[in-house]
Amino acid sequence: MSSNNPQRQILVTSALPYANGSIHLGHMLEYIQTDIWVRFQKLRGHQCIYVCADDAHGSAIMLRAEKEGITPEQLIDAVKAEHTADFADFLVDFDNYHSTHSEENRVLSELIYEKLKANGHISTRSVTQYFDPEKGMFLADRFIKGTCPKCAAEDQYGDNCEKCGATYEPTELKDPRSAISGATPVLRDSKHFFFTLPDFQDMLKQWTRSGALQDAVANKIAEWLDAGLQEWDISRDAPYFGFEIPGEPGKYFYVWLDAPVGYMASFQNLCARRPELDFDAFWGKDSTAELYHFIGKDIINFHTLFWPAMLEGAGYRKPTGVNVHGYLTVNGQKMSKSRGTFIKARTYLDHLSPEYLRYYYACKLGRGVDDMDLNLEDFIQKVNSDLVGKVVNIASRCAGFIHKGNGGLMTDANPEPELTAAFSAAFPSIAEAYEKRDFSRAMREIMALADRANAWIADKAPWALNKQEGRQDEVQAICSLGINLFRQLIILLKPVLPNLAADAEAFLNLPPQRWEDLDSLLGAHQLNAFKPLLTRIEPARVEAMVEASREDLEATVTGAPQGNGELAKEPLAPEIDFKAFSAVDLRIALIEKAEFVEGADKLLRLTLNIGDATRNVFSGIKSAYPDPSSLEGRLTLYVANLAPRKMKFGVSEGMVLAAGPGGEEIYLLSPDEGARPGQRVM
Ligand code: MSP
Ligand code: ZN
Repeated sequence: MSSNNPQRQILVTSALPYANGSIHLGHMLEYIQTDIWVRFQKLRGHQCIYVCADDAHGSAIMLRAEKEGITPEQLIDAVKAEHTADFADFLVDFDNYHSTHSEENRVLSELIYEKLKANGHISTRSVTQYFDPEKGMFLADRFIKGTCPKCAAEDQYGDNCEKCGATYEPTELKDPRSAISGATPVLRDSKHFFFTLPDFQDMLKQWTRSGALQDAVANKIAEWLDAGLQEWDISRDAPYFGFEIPGEPGKYFYVWLDAPVGYMASFQNLCARRPELDFDAFWGKDSTAELYHFIGKDIINFHTLFWPAMLEGAGYRKPTGVNVHGYLTVNGQKMSKSRGTFIKARTYLDHLSPEYLRYYYACKLGRGVDDMDLNLEDFIQKVNSDLVGKVVNIASRCAGFIHKGNGGLMTDANPEPELTAAFSAAFPSIAEAYEKRDFSRAMREIMALADRANAWIADKAPWALNKQEGRQDEVQAICSLGINLFRQLIILLKPVLPNLAADAEAFLNLPPQRWEDLDSLLGAHQLNAFKPLLTRIEPARVEAMVEASREDLEATVTGAPQGNGELAKEPLAPEIDFKAFSAVDLRIALIEKAEFVEGADKLLRLTLNIGDATRNVFSGIKSAYPDPSSLEGRLTLYVANLAPRKMKFGVSEGMVLAAGPGGEEIYLLSPDEGARPGQRVM
């Protein structure tokens, strides 16, 4: 550690992903962004700790577990294992990955609540809310559906209308019903606990302008602050999956109360393993450590209003910075299951190397909160031309001559001091770009150096000199400098491409390099054999990934119309003649077997007996038949001459017929009693 770079203590977090779903490439934008920044700090020799956890509480998780017939604990354990594997395979290097459903988090959440209460920041009052009498639970807005009070669109959520954009109270909905049980909700009173956020108005006005936030974020919050803050409802009634409020049986902390405390809990859990870490040195009021939260733009209010106020009110330090990023789009549009652009982390990893995406994200990430597009063609082009064509190319051009001409021993000469000086001059600016999270600038400046190195080597043309008598010293000097420049590029890219860096270090026969190693060049240094470090992205791999992500196939194989398409609202399809109709070979089929399909959210695999043959059909009806065995032995209608369709899970041979809008409302068609498998339907 050089004296102009004193060691900093830095604690970094990414938002805690919900424990009820898979990680997708949108999430990965955040975890990769954070990981690059953390790796940069570590490379610079700072003490930088990166913690995260699964966000395991809330009614969504409780209901999903119930639907799957497992306990919430079983669900969150399974999801945590999946998340952890996804992150590890994307080379996201957490110092600790914990869960908000942990003892540390319970203790800290209770402690913070008690402190807020003791300091007069908790109030209570009665709240009237819709209650599902069948399910026996209060309904959050998104679990209530009904008719929009403004435009009369049916089937709208409890707080806003997707048709006309109106926002309203759930009590204003016409014909409200519970999205969970379908029952008509009733109004009921219950005591709620509130965090008195307005107590912190002045502190927040000041803190949000202290440099902790990007300007665009600070401006947005200024609007909220000017409009005046409201008390924040931090309690939920049983049944709820979370922590019970101390001394208040049947009352639970709202998931967003204990979620950010999960940052502390994960760190505390790490402290137990790493004795050199002191909890108070990072979280205490007088902490001199830096604390940064990386989050997406959708959760700004929780991190820049509620959370700093909670910390202040309970006597802890506040964040040094909250770093907000925008949302990921793919090919210029919102991620879409039907276009195959809703890509899960695991689906990506099944087809492509994680470092390609890490590099592409780095190229596109700036300091702002704008949305960021993953354009799949640009992705292929950029990775191939920059990483393979520019960076790795230097090593593969130079290594062979050193091995053949000098047994892999580099020469201690610098044939172009101006070039190495130009490299050195660029390092501070690249470091500054990393520090400011302006990764796109860092990548541009690094690639500009790679361009210079390639142009110089091309100009010197060691391959031509190598054919001439008596020029071997020059060849060795040129290629040795090439390797030196390659090594520096690798160090510069190490936060983004840790595996490539490790492989390059093995080839270079060097220990793990740090940023300060940029200051020196290798002299007479022995290299190891060169192995190809990175291969080009084959466009077919990307196509296969998109194909594997295309989930609409699953939902449409049954022919059940999508969305809320009751016949009355579905326009009739264009007329067909009898010949066209009779071209469809409809048969009676006996469902001999109905099973779940591993890895498919919506599909069941049906084994059909159609008289003289057996057929295998994938049908997107799982949501309506959570217990597939209930279908076995049942007759249904089957399109027997539909062209087989290749799906991710196998070939689907035809389809069974069902009606209904989707979700739980899918109704498999059945013939009257007496029909037999194989009979033709006319
Ligand atoms: N559980 C909360 C966070 C609690 S933090 C105390 C949550 N979870 S999440 O799984 O929905 O999102 C986790 C992070 O991923 C959030 O920062 C969110 O903004 C980010 N992203 C989720 N989808 C995203 C995109 N499509 N694009 C970019 N980031 C996205 O929110
Ligand atoms: Zn409306």
